[in-house]
Amino acid sequence: MRELQGHYRVKINQDLSPKFKHLVLEAPDLASVIEPGQFVNIRVSAGTEPLLRRPFSVYRALNGEVELFYEVLGRGTKVLAQKKSGDVLDVLGPLGQPFSLPPSGTEHVVMIAGGIGVAPFQILTDALEAHEGLKLTLLYGARTFEHTFNMDDLERNRCRIMIATEDGSVGVKGRVSRLFSDISWDPNATWIYTCGPNAMMAAVQEFAREQNIRGEVSCESAMACGIGACLGCVVRTVNGYKTVCHDGPVFGLHEVIF
Ligand SMILES: Cc1cc2nc3c(=O)[nH]c(=O)nc-3n(C[C@H](O)[C@H](O)[C@H](O)COP(=O)(O)OP(=O)(O)OC[C@H]3O[C@@H](n4cnc5c(N)ncnc54)[C@H](O)[C@@H]3O)c2cc1C
Ligand code: FES
Repeated sequence: MRELQGHYRVKINQDLSPKFKHLVLEAPDLASVIEPGQFVNIRVSAGTEPLLRRPFSVYRALNGEVELFYEVLGRGTKVLAQKKSGDVLDVLGPLGQPFSLPPSGTEHVVMIAGGIGVAPFQILTDALEAHEGLKLTLLYGARTFEHTFNMDDLERNRCRIMIATEDGSVGVKGRVSRLFSDISWDPNATWIYTCGPNAMMAAVQEFAREQNIRGEVSCESAMACGIGACLGCVVRTVNGYKTVCHDGPVFGLHEVIF
């Protein structure tokens, strides 16, 4: 896949919840080639602070627009949060390997997300909702109410949503794994996608191994080049070290050694 580097106009950059923001870019060429699970690398500042681009999963790509969903954490995302409608951002993408479609025979897709790891699942359900007869469930683990958001667009994609929060302010109290017992897991007909903190994905991987269920993980790692050149983002896998930016971020569920 050829990467595009473009300068795209910000259409919307607004709060989606107390912790998360929603950025919409007018980027027709990019929107037309992005696949679910891919990401973009954004230069948030024209100066050197911060110097490195920041990677973000694509939340949705529709009608010539590329949407991101992000949490304000440090220097880069604080600068990004200040962008106004009409500002222009330098964006590199689409980057990385996309999610695969679930294999034939899959009847139930279970997406398991922790925090901002939920970002790639909107675009994924946009692609999967057309697959008639495929049941879609999202298990979402968040720290508090402030890390939840309006999930109507996911529900419109026929996605059943179950939430766990660490303080019990929304849904079940505890980690997302508390929700596992509420699902019926058929190893021959279930496919998992997961994205979130490594500890959560390790727990999902262990559970899936016990249940003999296959799927994919989308990994996060600090990045520099974003195009497979600096080896700054490698993760250990059963097939040796791999770059998250180029070989990933999507890997087989049982491939990454967390
Ligand atoms: C493939 C990929 C896709 C991503 N998709 C999204 C997304 O859709 N939405 C989103 O909000 N974020 C996403 N991230 C994470 C995002 O890139 C970082 O949160 C961002 O780069 C932080 O930049 P910063 O300058 O604000 O923080 P920094 O100043 O660099 O760091 C501030 C704090 O955040 C922590 N931090 C930095 N990077 C990460 C990270 N990758 N994961 C967890 N903590 C981190 C640091 O340890 C530090 O404590 C993604 C990362 C990758 C690799
Ligand atoms: S960030 Fe350079 S190889 Fe991945």
